[in-house]
Amino acid sequence: MTPTPTAPRPDIETAEDFLPINGTDYVEFYVGNAKQAAQYYAHLFGFQIRGYRGPETGSKEQVSYLLEQNDIRIVLTSALGPDHSISNHVQLHGDGVRDIALTVDDARQSFEATTERGADPVHEPTVHEDDHGRIVTAAISTYGDTIHTFVERTDYDGLFFPEFEPWTNEHWNAPSPTGLQFVDHCVGNVYEGDMDRYVDYYAQTMGFYNMLHFTEQDISTEYSALMSKVMANGNEVIKFPINEPAEGKKKSQIEEYLEFYRGPGVQHVALATDDIISTVRELRRRGVEFLEIPDTYYDRDVLADRVGSIDEPIDELEELSILVDRDPEGYLLQIFTQPVQDRPTVFYEIIQREGARSFGAGNFKALFEAIEREQDRRGNL
Ligand code: FE2
Repeated sequence: MTPTPTAPRPDIETAEDFLPINGTDYVEFYVGNAKQAAQYYAHLFGFQIRGYRGPETGSKEQVSYLLEQNDIRIVLTSALGPDHSISNHVQLHGDGVRDIALTVDDARQSFEATTERGADPVHEPTVHEDDHGRIVTAAISTYGDTIHTFVERTDYDGLFFPEFEPWTNEHWNAPSPTGLQFVDHCVGNVYEGDMDRYVDYYAQTMGFYNMLHFTEQDISTEYSALMSKVMANGNEVIKFPINEPAEGKKKSQIEEYLEFYRGPGVQHVALATDDIISTVRELRRRGVEFLEIPDTYYDRDVLADRVGSIDEPIDELEELSILVDRDPEGYLLQIFTQPVQDRPTVFYEIIQREGARSFGAGNFKALFEAIEREQDRRGNL
């Protein structure tokens, strides 16, 4: 497959960006058992458990653990009772992403600018204060039960949010980090026919632009197909690919997701590393399960034809099942984990970019065939 060119960056010097975004503030999961999930992220992925919020800190109905690794923040939240909306979310979706929160300079203005343009409000601007200062948040909804919280933390120097206290355990020997640096992109799955609706939603309400587009011809295997459009904000700090299933001979991986998640939601979160070989070697050693790629993918001639010369030894990429793709601006290395909960829903991507701004379109076929093998093992193909 020829590399899919990326759209030129919009001229952010002159364009009026009504929603300046500084980065992904945190990704919050609603889970059945935050205490145990925190240990999974710590032991397998090398996240540090930094903060805790629960009854002991004044949060009577829910507990949250704050996990950090370099610029990545993951929040794991569970309810303490059956009637809480968090419990309903977990009962319906299983463990999943509730909130992709965005750091902004002005949460109130972000809320007003987006809702004026048609974004669905979830919560109005709210001030959270303690001895460390004040945080302002506001939230809008996106696909399914997923939301975006705008977080303004310029006047706050505390750990994370009021009510969060440092998590401590005097006997804890924290697993070391694994080189994960920041959130590169977050992908959503929506129902067939809905992709363009959400593309328009991000364009109209948040000023995002369509940086890439994949058709079912780009992304199809013998059995299933999907379409995808990547929405990005002006400085491309935030990239949200949106997938929808396309007609195939059998059930696509997107349909399997939608069935088990009981609706649209976050399919995967991509975490960037500067050294994917050492990161993946370490993640594997700790027990992270990845999609395995057939040996034929690493046929030296075929691979050289497609991606040209790269700095990393192919032997090591093959040993670790790391994929490689090239676009006009450079290349990228990537690998995908198995789902990280019982349902075949959310998973992670580990990505190292060497100039490339795209998403590995040249790997889609090999990748989806690998996913289909797993679907088949679950009896869902
Ligand atoms: Fe991805």
